[in-house]
Amino acid sequence: MRSKIVAGNWKMNLTFDEADELVNDMLDRLDEEHEMKCEVIVCPPFPYLEMLTDMEYEEQKFNVGAQNCSAYDKGAYTGEVSAKMLKSLDVDYCIIGHSERRKYFGETNEILAEKVNRVIENNMSPIYCVGEVLEEREAGRHFEVVKEQLEKGLFHLDGDAIYDAIIAYEPVWAIGTGKTATPEQAQEMHAYIRQLVKEHYDQAAADDIRILYGGSCNAKNATELFSQPDVDGGLIGSASLKAEDFVSICKQASKLMKD
Ligand code: PGA
Repeated sequence: MRSKIVAGNWKMNLTFDEADELVNDMLDRLDEEHEMKCEVIVCPPFPYLEMLTDMEYEEQKFNVGAQNCSAYDKGAYTGEVSAKMLKSLDVDYCIIGHSERRKYFGETNEILAEKVNRVIENNMSPIYCVGEVLEEREAGRHFEVVKEQLEKGLFHLDGDAIYDAIIAYEPVWAIGTGKTATPEQAQEMHAYIRQLVKEHYDQAAADDIRILYGGSCNAKNATELFSQPDVDGGLIGSASLKAEDFVSICKQASKLMKD
């Protein structure tokens, strides 16, 4: 059985002190809980990565991911952060292609394919995000859009590298809106994505790859979303900024994993 993953995406929130407080609160609560069976990943803004990788090392209770990286390897690219720099801080995951990056920073599937390559070359796992906007869903184009995002941005990876990737389905109309996809809508798209992985790779890759749901996933709806057969956990935005909610979501994911 695939293990579940709960990844928190803090986005551009929290001062250093607030981040420190949140992560300590989270660790205390993780302590109180029975052993977490799901994999927990925390994706803070760049300046807080080292604080978190240090805590990860001490506590071994979560993994650390970045929210973005450069498509370039190194050099004169002012303001960019390379995948190699992230790896040198012991970061193991990197979100690539979040809809906010696609929308506000003009990141195309082609740029994202390069970012995915940098992440893989540096032995990290990309959490590659896909998802349609409301008009595309209403026009019945959601499958087509997600297929194109996967084919152009992720499926260039070879058969071995795809095993390092995680996919996050985040319908854009559900992100930060309080409007969650129904468990049926999530399951339908996740099953479709898994089928695409099978067609492009093989059954073993399709069985292995983790597909997370994101978009207003919270402590109230996590269990019903994560109980769907093809939903392997969640990418959590706003609810990851509250330790109580985030740990509750992790606990719900862990409960759904059989011993
Ligand atoms: P949300 O964000 O949980 O606040 O909707 C999810 C995401 O953007 O990853």
